[in-house]
Amino acid sequence: MNVVLEAHVYTDLGGGTPTFVGVLKPSFSGGRNLASASFQYDSGYLAHPRAYPISPELPLVPTRTFTPENMTIFGSFADASPDMWGKKLIQANHALRLEKQPGVYRKLGDFDFLLNVSDFTRMGALRLKAPTGGSWLASDSEAANIHDLERVIAVARRYEDQVASDEDLEYLSDIATSPGGARPKANVITEFGNLAIAKLPHSKDGNIDVESWEALALTLAENIGIRTPTFEHRRAGADKSVLVAHRFDRVGEDVRLGYMSASTAMELGTLSDSGVTYQEFADTISELSSQPAADLHEMFTRIALTVLINNVDDHWRNHGFLHDGSGWRLSPVFDVNPSTSHSVNSRAISEQDDPRNRDIRNLASVAESFSLTGEQAAAIVHSVADHVERWPAIANSFGIPVEQQKAMSRAFDTNQLSVAREYSPLAPPRIVDLAPPAQPGQAGAVWVAQHVRGGAQVAGHWRAARRSS
Ligand SMILES: Nc1ncnc2c1ncn2[C@@H]1O[C@H](COP(=O)(O)OP(=O)(O)OP(=O)(O)O)[C@@H](O)[C@H]1O
Ligand SMILES: [Mg+2]
Repeated sequence: MNVVLEAHVYTDLGGGTPTFVGVLKPSFSGGRNLASASFQYDSGYLAHPRAYPISPELPLVPTRTFTPENMTIFGSFADASPDMWGKKLIQANHALRLEKQPGVYRKLGDFDFLLNVSDFTRMGALRLKAPTGGSWLASDSEAANIHDLERVIAVARRYEDQVASDEDLEYLSDIATSPGGARPKANVITEFGNLAIAKLPHSKDGNIDVESWEALALTLAENIGIRTPTFEHRRAGADKSVLVAHRFDRVGEDVRLGYMSASTAMELGTLSDSGVTYQEFADTISELSSQPAADLHEMFTRIALTVLINNVDDHWRNHGFLHDGSGWRLSPVFDVNPSTSHSVNSRAISEQDDPRNRDIRNLASVAESFSLTGEQAAAIVHSVADHVERWPAIANSFGIPVEQQKAMSRAFDTNQLSVAREYSPLAPPRIVDLAPPAQPGQAGAVWVAQHVRGGAQVAGHWRAARRSS
């Protein structure tokens, strides 16, 4: 492992040539436990005509900026780091190396995970070097050839079953550390030379062929006109599949596009993100996007799809932005999955919506936040409902067995679909619970219906009128 005490950061400001951005300094609280970090832009970067803030907490200033209280690392670096799947692999490979060449630190921290992610496949455009220069951190790993997919699946399965050999582990560390997320996945190069993420079957998937359903959701999104990455659905034996999604943050072999998750864009850091609603996210899109109207309309469409297929795992790292050289745009959609579960705290449409049982009618009241008229909003919801209703034909085309289709049909809630079909801008939004009559002194107050926030049930209550200053 590289014991590096600070990192020199580079990015791609167009054309595929790395530009030096500045220096990232970690601060540790014992061992390699990351406590906070600071960043200082290089004057050359600040003077560059295409320079942009690499993370929202890092304005283009010449002085050192420190992480805010709710972060140990700036958001964009968190997005470039591995998540559960990648971290486990890096830690396991590190333990293996320690046996052969005992090092100082046994347990790695978040700074090490950032440094040890493969440079070739690291998410977004940020690249790192040690202060002494040399090669990129970490440039000793790559991606598997798509023709080796069977081996990748078999090795990942052995790893999950805790029977992986040292050789298996080294192989996985080479090809599978960088993408975020918790599901098993690997980096692959397609037949056409594109870098892609292969989302693999998971030992906990049970009887559900999860990746076929994810391919179905992406097909629905594509049919609706939502921007999707190029993807392929591949069979992995009789009853499981692999989803191969081309990396949307790469253009050709050399160009890397900047990336930040919605969580980073909203500067959520370590704060619980479950109480933030789509309506609040619309404000962030309005402020950040270089094409706010187009991105707001598309986000509205994605919410309609999310609700109508009961995509419950829609946390704020499952939405993101790409920097296309001139500004930030909503990235293509990813990680959308139909689900039969209602026990998950999903993102609510607005404060009036119930995150465990979202209602498509609540989109009516937020159309304006997405820069849509009531009629435009209704047309989008009708169109999404029309497409979603045709899910069985897509399921058949992916060879999903009828029994599994029956089991998953609850995800495509027919009540919600019929409500969506009849959705009218004139219909009043759903009343989740009735507001009691306003009491004296509550003039201008807003009734907030019962909802779940941060995992806790919040009873219906009056929110005092916002005072104008
Ligand atoms: N087509 C793509 N191109 C570039 N990056 C992608 C693409 N698809 C996903 N990603 C990135 O990889 C990360 C992991 O992918 P994804 O969310 O699909 O995995 P997951 O394991 O299902 O996640 P979760 O833990 O949310 O269930 C995403 O957060 C996103 O940053
Ligand atoms: Mg995800």
